[in-house]
Amino acid sequence: MIHLKLKRKLPYKPTERMNVVSYPIRDIVMEAKREEAKGKKMIYLNIGDPPQYDFKPFGVIADRVKSALDENYKGYAPSEGDEDLRNTVAKIEKCRPEDVFAVAGLTEGIDFFFHSFIGFGEKVLLPNPAYSLYLSKAKQFEGDSIFYRHDADGQIDIGNLAKKIEGAKAMVIINPNNPLGAVYSEKNLSEVVKLCAEYDVPIFYDGSYDQLIFEGNLIDFRKIARGKVPFIYGSSLSKNFNNPGARIGWVAFHGDKWDEVKNAFFLLCNQRLSVNWEYQKAAAAAITDPSYPAYVTDIRKKLLERRNAFMKITRNMPLQYPVPNGAFYAFIKIETPKWKKDLEFVRAALKEGVVFVPGSGFGRQEDGVYFRTTFLPKPHIIEEAFDKIRRIL
Ligand SMILES: Cc1ncc(COP(=O)(O)O)c(C=O)c1O
Repeated sequence: MIHLKLKRKLPYKPTERMNVVSYPIRDIVMEAKREEAKGKKMIYLNIGDPPQYDFKPFGVIADRVKSALDENYKGYAPSEGDEDLRNTVAKIEKCRPEDVFAVAGLTEGIDFFFHSFIGFGEKVLLPNPAYSLYLSKAKQFEGDSIFYRHDADGQIDIGNLAKKIEGAKAMVIINPNNPLGAVYSEKNLSEVVKLCAEYDVPIFYDGSYDQLIFEGNLIDFRKIARGKVPFIYGSSLSKNFNNPGARIGWVAFHGDKWDEVKNAFFLLCNQRLSVNWEYQKAAAAAITDPSYPAYVTDIRKKLLERRNAFMKITRNMPLQYPVPNGAFYAFIKIETPKWKKDLEFVRAALKEGVVFVPGSGFGRQEDGVYFRTTFLPKPHIIEEAFDKIRRIL
């Protein structure tokens, strides 16, 4: 009895499964909050959350949310997604509504993809660097992450990919890439598709930022890949529509080999019942609204201005990064020898009042010390932040 009493006093322990759960983009905020509690003013450049700065969500979304609530869309929606949303996405994707699933942000689509398709020890090709969630999910579902490289122009290094592709269960492409801001060209993607078709490797295409390309044309991956290789196209309201709080995303399956995986998606969708119905109605309205092209053209222009201001501010600093042509991040290498570990640098920046994400949160960087910043805030905020870190470089 005494023994039992003593045991109860110990704190409960989470399961071992938790050892691989991480999300460096937000994990760093806990440390930032501790600095803030000491009275330090913090500038948060760790996350790509447009409404936190001065980017307004596409207005059609809030209007349609209100009317959908008036229409009493307050219950559980169909687990696999609202009919209107599935029909609308299917038209854009040129697939059938049954091939489309609504998810709680593309985050959930990524989770379901790994859960349903990547088994123990199975190879999944990821870009290096890659959006942190892919690294974490691959670990969580015990897949084997294989990293493919970029060439000097920020394109997928085809030679490198060719050496790694054999036996892969799937390949993930993020275009524009987070954190690099690289935009893969049609030619580059055609070469990737050719290789994937040769080795029968399906593609998970993350189009979270596909409308946010600054210079050059938008890329339609479906046109490049359709009929050549099976793929899943995912996107959401978060970035292209500046409304991450909506928590609405979608995935569309392309090709005729997915029936059993779609069934697995169905089961996963059933298990969590539904995604916010009123926001699904809003997504269906937003995606096809005739005022969206003008809205997103303005957003692209504003992002380009922010990127240019960011480059001007950091021009004379010992920082090196590929010029981002999409999304809203820069993946920066520190050119001075002072810092040996990215987390030490990020912690020193925290002490100065600036929150970044360490480069290792996006995969192992072997040739130096990296961190990621967003360039979403107004230039005077970026200037203040980079003035603060100038002295620690
Ligand atoms: C490349 C990429 N994919 C997916 C996501 C997930 O976004 P959400 O769940 O808000 O759609 C993000 C979020 O930052 C991202 O950068």
